[in-house]
Amino acid sequence: MKEVKIFSPGTVANVGCGFDVLGFCLDAIGDEMIIRKTPNKGVHITKIEGGYDLPFNVNENVAGVSALALYQDAQPDFGFEIEIYKNIKPGSGIGSSAASAAGSVFGINYLLGNPYANQELTTFAMKGEAIASKSEHADNIAPALFGGFTLVKSNQPLEVLQIPTPKELYAVIAHQKIEIKTSEARSILPKDILLSDAIVQWSNLGSLIHALHTNDYALIGRSLKDVVVEPHRSKLIPNYKALKNSALDANALGTSISGSGPSVFSLCKGESVALQVKNAQKQLLKSTQIPFEIYVSKINTQGIRILTQ
Ligand code: HSE
Repeated sequence: MKEVKIFSPGTVANVGCGFDVLGFCLDAIGDEMIIRKTPNKGVHITKIEGGYDLPFNVNENVAGVSALALYQDAQPDFGFEIEIYKNIKPGSGIGSSAASAAGSVFGINYLLGNPYANQELTTFAMKGEAIASKSEHADNIAPALFGGFTLVKSNQPLEVLQIPTPKELYAVIAHQKIEIKTSEARSILPKDILLSDAIVQWSNLGSLIHALHTNDYALIGRSLKDVVVEPHRSKLIPNYKALKNSALDANALGTSISGSGPSVFSLCKGESVALQVKNAQKQLLKSTQIPFEIYVSKINTQGIRILTQ
């Protein structure tokens, strides 16, 4: 096999109460990538489409850095070319860099005959993610590779747990097209938090995980609360409160910041509620000057998928 074309999905990190550990995978938005074997050794990025100013230098591109991490470990006697067709805007909060980082290692692993498991691929892809956000967090990469909901139990050594996805769960992503750099959204967070806030947060994270295991949609809603990060980062997101209120009024289970923003995600029971939430948020954002896109997506339980080979 010489080449593979893949769909590398967007992801929602944090999921409200699970800062840096919880994430889920989207279906409605993602990048496409082609990974090709070449007789010459090394890894090269040969095409980047989508209109974004991203580096071709493999040492500066997230897809390149993660690919090199795997390549140096595998040491094959041939090389790889990577083409990236970007649909996820960088700095959107829906895992743009993770889609590139996870996609390149997934594609190369596939062409090598799948010697690495998802856990190892996550470790390679984290090297790429680190150059984009200046921190090695796996809460976007893991759901892109494993699909569904994932919990990063530990970074060192990496341990990723797969959490079940209730069947009727849909996500709505309201993306106002301004850019928030993850590194900047991390730099405004306090180094210490109050014990009283920590108690609320870990009770919500525990109950959210329980709710996902037991298909308890109402409990998902009651658990989607973030008293640690949202109070700080919501200030960076225009119309945040209004977007959240309009989603909750339209029967969303819960709403919070997607990754480091500016996208805002809502979880809903059923597609018709998700479409209601989309319409309510659309009405709201139409009255602002900010360009926006709203996606309705099923939770993608497969993760990255092969389009053609
Ligand atoms: N957990 C990371 C953060 C995700 O919130 O900074 C960034 O997409």
